[in-house]
Amino acid sequence: MTHSGTDSSASAAASASPADTVSSGRRVLWGDVLDFTADPGFAPPKEAPGVRWRPDHVVLIEEGRIAAVQPHAKALPAGWQDVPVEDHRGQLIMPGFIDTHVHCPQLDVIASFGTELLDWLNTYTFPAERRYADPAVSQAGAERFLLALWAHGTTTAVVFPTVHKVSAHALFEQAHAQNMRLITGKVLMNRHAPEGLRDDVDQAERDCVDLIDLWHGKGRQAFAVTVRFAPTSTPEQLMMAGQLCQTYDGTYMQTHVAENRDEVRWVASLFPDARSYLDVYDRDGLIGARGVLAHGIWLDDRDRAVLRERGAQIAHSPSSNLFLGSGLFDWAQAQQEGVNVSLASDVGGGTSLSMLRNMADAYKIQALQGTRLTAWKALYTATLGAARHLGLDEEIGQVEPGRMADLAVWDWAVGPVATHRDGLAQASGDLHERAFVWMTLGDERNLAGTMIAGQTVYKKRITA
Ligand code: GUN
Ligand code: ZN
Repeated sequence: MTHSGTDSSASAAASASPADTVSSGRRVLWGDVLDFTADPGFAPPKEAPGVRWRPDHVVLIEEGRIAAVQPHAKALPAGWQDVPVEDHRGQLIMPGFIDTHVHCPQLDVIASFGTELLDWLNTYTFPAERRYADPAVSQAGAERFLLALWAHGTTTAVVFPTVHKVSAHALFEQAHAQNMRLITGKVLMNRHAPEGLRDDVDQAERDCVDLIDLWHGKGRQAFAVTVRFAPTSTPEQLMMAGQLCQTYDGTYMQTHVAENRDEVRWVASLFPDARSYLDVYDRDGLIGARGVLAHGIWLDDRDRAVLRERGAQIAHSPSSNLFLGSGLFDWAQAQQEGVNVSLASDVGGGTSLSMLRNMADAYKIQALQGTRLTAWKALYTATLGAARHLGLDEEIGQVEPGRMADLAVWDWAVGPVATHRDGLAQASGDLHERAFVWMTLGDERNLAGTMIAGQTVYKKRITA
């Protein structure tokens, strides 16, 4: 399932590109390698730890994994001399991005006008999700969605499908076929949703157990107990969800929390005994180290202390928070209080699957609160940071021997303005300036190619 993108603005000849894999499964990529070895935090760019810049290096790939990274000038190891070198000089080679919160069916409603969260769900999202009851719609939707992720340089995702078991099954099946690391599970929702989008506690439990049996731990697939959000599950369903998390080792839990002020008030009225919105989940054992909670804008200090103690993460979703007018997430405060934070597109509340665009929006959200988000912190968060918070840093998030070869190759600039600005940044000799310009002006048009487990899954098509 490889595909090509169109890039009407590119005029260069297609870069020399040998066959995707040689028979040994070996590949050699030549370019400038950027990844991270530690959290740069909110340190100023020049003082930020953990930035690993290896210009003019080759990445050796074997059987889907990174075998070595070495200077281009150094001789290749014995047995590698015949492997064609894929020339990406002048391009960035990075770990594929990790999008920790995104909705597969919501490609149908991305960029819908005019409403905040609760109205947006009823007006646009729920009608679109109902269509996924049809297996053909789920299959086609999963394919479209995974191709789209790859065409944005995202190689790992934590995904919401719909309430329908088949929608999760289709995602697992297609990600598995490509050996892609994917975390998903059927959405739990048994109230406050229209007919055709509600399950019941027993059927939902059976569906989850079936999916766990079929997919959890199969290849690179992992199951997530997927509570849509507190208002759409009864207390009984939340209890069942907590039991699933406790019973099945290694499962993740994904949900939404404290995104929108009307939502927070609604949760308080539905769960008057809970101390807070987060507590609705915590008291049923849903918050653990594998918990991924989208948004978390309207949490308090005690909530953040709970997240820190449990090791759960907030999936910060910048473009969604701006588009739905949800609020400004205070990332620096979360960091100071020891809360794990990852980055997410939250499409279709979010307006782009591009993690670069979401980073640019994250910068603006922090700027409005007096904090400056460096490119180092943003890029770390979408690679090694997310991998660590998901417990997957032995597998993904770095260009490092032994890690899976989930990689993206990027052009620094596309179009006249970015090309001009990138030229000045390059001439300055300040790598952070260049990376920040790329993060701020770049998007999926900058993507030259995406590889998962050593196989090309996306390649930019260069038009003459
Ligand atoms: N809260 C509950 N469901 C959703 C959803 O689909 N998107 C967003 N952004 N928030 C939600
Ligand atoms: Zn969401």
